[in-house]
This record gives sequence, C-alpha cells and structure tokens, in this order.
Amino acid sequence: MERQYTRLDEARKLIDSIIKSISDEESKRGAYVHLYGVGLMASLLALKRGYSREIAEMAEISGILHDLLTYVDRAEDTPDHAHKCADYAKKMVLDGLDCFSEEEKRQIYNGIYNHSDKHEKGFWFDEIIKDADAVQHSLRNPMEDFFYSEERIQQVIRELVCE
Ligand SMILES: [Fe+2]
Repeated sequence: MERQYTRLDEARKLIDSIIKSISDEESKRGAYVHLYGVGLMASLLALKRGYSREIAEMAEISGILHDLLTYVDRAEDTPDHAHKCADYAKKMVLDGLDCFSEEEKRQIYNGIYNHSDKHEKGFWFDEIIKDADAVQHSLRNPMEDFFYSEERIQQVIRELVCE
C-alpha cells in the first residue's frame, strides 16, 4: 500500500515551516519535543477514549499547535498564553487549511484556547488536549515528581496503563 497524503500532512507542512524558521536552537528543539509529543499523546488518548481516527487526527493537530506561539516568541510564554496561541494558530495555520470544515477548525481552535484550564473539566475534546499536555510533561521524565504528583496526570496514566 502506498503512503497517503492526509489532512495532517497538510497541516504539518505549515506548522513545520514555522518551527524551522525559529532561529533560537533551544526553542526549536523544545517545539519539536513538546508539540509533537503532545500531538501524539492527544491522538492516542482520542483513540483510547473510543473516538474515530478523524477525531484523533484533529486532536493531534490541536496538540501540535497548542503552544506554538510560545516557541516562536518566548515572551509569549505567560500564564495566559493559551488564548493568544489559539489566535496565532488560527491565523498562521487553520485559516490556510481548506481541508477542514469551519466546525472542525473551531474544535481544533477551542482545544488550544482552553488548554490551560487544567483545574476544570470542560468539553471532551478540550480535555484530550489538556490531558495530553499534562502527561507529556510527566512521561518525558518518568522519575521526576513535579508533574507526576498532579492528580490529572495520575488519572491519565492510570487510564493508559490500567484500564
Ligand atoms: Fe504545553
């Protein structure tokens, strides 16, 4: 079977051109590690929770985009970065993608917009992005307690390895 060119590839083309243009090497490394880590985790969680591959694809894109602006401009890495990251992702990536419907783009946007509200339970799609973000911080360093001790992370790890 031949490799397919998917909507995710279309999104990655735009996202990767932004990441490749980051001049600070440490920010660029962080962008690839964290953003693609969260994307992969979001896709896995979507499937684990019984959603379709289309939803997993959208979750992966939302995950990859969720912090992109903060790596492009480290000054934007503030506690209220999520809303700015959503607007940046819309302008730089989502608006340029004809392959997603307006409703799908809104869902991807909302996942980014709401990802910092980790202490509330929100819409199921947004929860996938929050959980993926939280657990990527922890699983990239399993012996480190700072993230591991958070209740949200404990729950997601239990979900992934036990249920
Ligand atoms: Fe993040």
